[in-house]
Amino acid sequence: MLGLLLLQVLASCLCLGHSEVVTSFTTACAQFFYEKTPPSDTLRPTNAARICQRLSNKYHFATLYDKTRRIPVYSAYIYKPGHGYRYNSWFIEPQLIDKKSYGKEMAEPWTIHSANIGENQAVENDYSSAVMPVDRGHLCPSGHLYEQTSRWATFTLTNIVPQYSTLNQGAWSVYEDTTMRNKTDGCDKTYVITGAVPGNTNISNGRVNIPSHIWSAACCLVGTNPTRAWGAIAKNERGNNQVTNLNLGRLETKLSELYGGKVVTLFNNACPRQ
Ligand SMILES: *[C@@H]1O[C@H](CO)[C@@H](O)[C@H](O)[C@H]1NC(C)=O
Ligand SMILES: *[C@@H]1O[C@H](CO)[C@@H](O)[C@H](O)[C@H]1NC(C)=O
Repeated sequence: MLGLLLLQVLASCLCLGHSEVVTSFTTACAQFFYEKTPPSDTLRPTNAARICQRLSNKYHFATLYDKTRRIPVYSAYIYKPGHGYRYNSWFIEPQLIDKKSYGKEMAEPWTIHSANIGENQAVENDYSSAVMPVDRGHLCPSGHLYEQTSRWATFTLTNIVPQYSTLNQGAWSVYEDTTMRNKTDGCDKTYVITGAVPGNTNISNGRVNIPSHIWSAACCLVGTNPTRAWGAIAKNERGNNQVTNLNLGRLETKLSELYGGKVVTLFNNACPRQ
């Protein structure tokens, strides 16, 4: 009983924190979700962290992270494509080591003096040591954000999954660049959620899961009206170079199947399902 009470007190204290690893996306980083509605909790794994991705005193996108599989479940952002250059290194999320001891900003690992950086998240060596032909695949791609610091903020390993190179550099990049530009023609604002379905294989001796599928969903607003929405999904398998384009309703149904029959909703009801 006392334990329960303590837990409740602890939980309510956590809710008050405004730091980067947050307890709910409906209060923190809600701006990255249409109508402040994050996807259904059915996507959330048991050992999850919600990250408001922060760099240079600004929030750039939101990520739901799976601390056991050490990959993101999804990243949510507002599509605002631009040009710029890549960050030449990789950030990690210090608050995944310990929320109390570290600040709100993502950080380069060499600035963090802890032996436990890799306990709850992937580190560079997990990817550089991979024998599978996988890239560091961005969920929120740098090319979908406009400001240079926003683009750099996508180079955090909490936004990255092991993605087979053929897909990442082939059909998926065509979806990200060409298809998205085409489909967002006429949209005043487009909310995007891009995610990964956990798979049965891994890199780095089981430390980092290789997702079975990569998916993306978008809801396009003209003025303030969500006039259309769409989705895309691809098998993250060696050699696959195909992305299936489908409507939002079909994508949610497909994800429900992949998540063991649990109902999955990605966007607020107002975004058209077909
Ligand atoms: C853009 O979309 C239109 C229809 O919406 C389609 O006919 C056209 O082929 C697309 N172009 C590209 C480059 O994907
Ligand atoms: C990682 O993959 C290997 C080989 O496929 C498998 O034997 C092992 O169980 C996997 N580990 C995890 C944690 O998934």
